[in-house]
Amino acid sequence: MMQMWGRAGVVVATLAMGMLTAYAAAEVASDKLASPESFAGISDTATRSAAVFSELGKVLTSPRCVNCHPASDRPRQGDRARLHQPPVERGADGHGLPAMRCSSCHQNANFDPGRVPGHPEWHLAPREMAWEGKTVAEICAQIKDPARNGNRPVEALIDHIGKDTLVGWAWAPGFGRTPAPGTQAQAGALVKAWAESGAACPAN
Ligand code: HEC
Ligand code: HEC
Repeated sequence: MMQMWGRAGVVVATLAMGMLTAYAAAEVASDKLASPESFAGISDTATRSAAVFSELGKVLTSPRCVNCHPASDRPRQGDRARLHQPPVERGADGHGLPAMRCSSCHQNANFDPGRVPGHPEWHLAPREMAWEGKTVAEICAQIKDPARNGNRPVEALIDHIGKDTLVGWAWAPGFGRTPAPGTQAQAGALVKAWAESGAACPAN
């Protein structure tokens, strides 16, 4: 094959390979995550940091996260993020109103026969941590703001996203729900690379 193409063909093929490598990160399928290493070709640190966050944005904007980080007091359900049925509200502590606690339906683990997701700490993220309707850039600014992220230093987000088991539910969400893209460990690696490169935010 190569011989038939001649020298020009080889040059074209080599160029094409180089471009494939350069754009690999941007072209990763939406259910996968690009590794931090795949951004190494971006020499400007802040640009690279922001690009890594944009990749993490695939996770943050997935319905598995946003349904629990809603803009209103009502959680959302399913891949289409419809309003929670039956109607429930966050309540003072995020665990529901006194008469309708999250834990009356959500058990310690997923209950697939009833399609009910579960975790011992199942409750809504506080209002200031709402991500619904926000751009990845807006979520970026919010997630590193101690006043809106539970007073966490950026470094704490590495383990929170990479290891917290409530966050981890998003990759094992039970019957009928699309898991968050990639794996939790890959998401944690992206947060680490983002934090270590100065935690820059994308423009949009
Ligand atoms: C009366 C029972 C009941 C109560 C109380 C309840 N839920 Fe649910 N919840 C369900 C059921 C059933 C589903 C699954 C519906 C489906 O996906 O078909 C669900 C799904 C969800 C989902 C969707 C997950 C996803 O990504 O698809 C979220 C988020 C959620 N509940 C949060 C809460 C929170 C937070 C509370 C407390 C404020 C709560 N729920 C209280 C029954 C309940
Ligand atoms: C069952 C509901 C639920 C799901 C699902 C969920 N979260 Fe959260 N999240 C919470 C709660 C509750 C808090 C507040 C906990 C705290 O501050 O300790 C929180 C806080 C956070 C925070 C820290 C504050 C912030 O917003 O900056 C991050 C980061 C976070 N979640 C990431 C995620 C990611 C990533 C996913 C999806 C992969 C996810 N969460 C899915 C309930 C949820």
